[in-house]
Amino acid sequence: MAQLTVLGPRDWADGVAQRLAERLRREPRLRLCLPTGDTPSPVYERLVALNREGLAPFGQATIVLLDEYVGLPPDDPARCDARLRRELLDLLEPGPVTFHAISVDELAPDAAAEAHDAVAAEGLDLALVGLGLNGHVGFNEPGSTADSPTRAVDLAGESRRAATARYGAGAEPTRGITLGMARLLNATDVWLLVSGAQKATILQRTLVGPISADCPASLLRGHPRLRVLTEEGATAKLS
Ligand code: GLP
Repeated sequence: MAQLTVLGPRDWADGVAQRLAERLRREPRLRLCLPTGDTPSPVYERLVALNREGLAPFGQATIVLLDEYVGLPPDDPARCDARLRRELLDLLEPGPVTFHAISVDELAPDAAAEAHDAVAAEGLDLALVGLGLNGHVGFNEPGSTADSPTRAVDLAGESRRAATARYGAGAEPTRGITLGMARLLNATDVWLLVSGAQKATILQRTLVGPISADCPASLLRGHPRLRVLTEEGATAKLS
């Protein structure tokens, strides 16, 4: 049974950041999977502020990137690694932070996925994930099952378009690499971050609809320690 935490729209990002900061204080050597996207951006902004106040110690944490585009050059602003560095990692003091990006420049997609999976297989204490409008988690697009491995995937049309339209990619990527549902379901804790009224329908499907590969996020309900951190705008369709 998922633990549902509904915050006010204005307190949401701070509430999530405070909870993560508290976890880092308790467990500084946290192995943490982080997503990118518009959802976590304000959370990262708050985390940077908390870090400046000495309240969010990342110095000993290990960060594992959730997913990455294939085929975007390293300087493309939409790249997930670039975005996470820009919004969080490069702004943290003191460093260093161990950051495992996905080696899409150095390795062929399948080899990059395999290498990244080996990193995640060392264990994830906490996986933070966002929710795609089509129910994807990372790039586990609809059709992904609970045992799906870390792999290179063809992106759904929505994910391709989001890269250029919302995140400013120079060209529309067609493939991505994602931690698989199996790896995410193996994390000790999973926090699903959902904000914005545009996510109300898919959040309802995720939490109340059938548990099915049609909506990969619904598979997270099989995790014993799933926590859904959301806000009032996104919960409009939950009774
Ligand atoms: C993207 C990413 C996901 C992200 C999701 C939601 O395509 N691959 O990791 O969580 O879609 O994005 P947003 O938070 O911008 O709505």
